[in-house]
Amino acid sequence: MTNRILFVCLGNICRSPAAEGVFRALAPEVATDSCGTGGWHVGEPPYGPMQAAARARGHDISDLRARQFTPDDFDRFDLIVAMDAANQQEIETRRPTGNTTPVRLLTDFAPETGADHVPDPYYTRDFDGVLDLIETAARGLKASLQPG
Ligand code: 4NP
Repeated sequence: MTNRILFVCLGNICRSPAAEGVFRALAPEVATDSCGTGGWHVGEPPYGPMQAAARARGHDISDLRARQFTPDDFDRFDLIVAMDAANQQEIETRRPTGNTTPVRLLTDFAPETGADHVPDPYYTRDFDGVLDLIETAARGLKASLQPG
């Protein structure tokens, strides 16, 4: 059973809190959290323009606070979902010996988009484009948990 899912990006103020907010609305039965591989924004709420774009689609993510990924997360979650390959590789460098928790890319769950990563809107400023991709992938992720 995949009961606990962790979404991971770099800063934990744009992509992963948005993914958490979208996914928790779609699958409230799953325990979710998000974090960043970097620690620059620890304790901060999601980035204002990201919060606004999410809120415009009905997702209030103002309760979330940034934290940094820790190796304990491998044991605390059933599935770790990274926003890009750099995040995925950074997570893998911290995997405890013997741990087998899968670390997937969010875009693995949206093959129809052709995307191989979630672009960082902190730099691209395309908050809506990122939410489009996240919403598609979140539906795919939920479907992957409930085959048939
Ligand atoms: P995120 O975007 O990984 O989607 O939260 C970022 C936000 C801030 C920084 C990096 C990425 N930063 O270095 O401050």
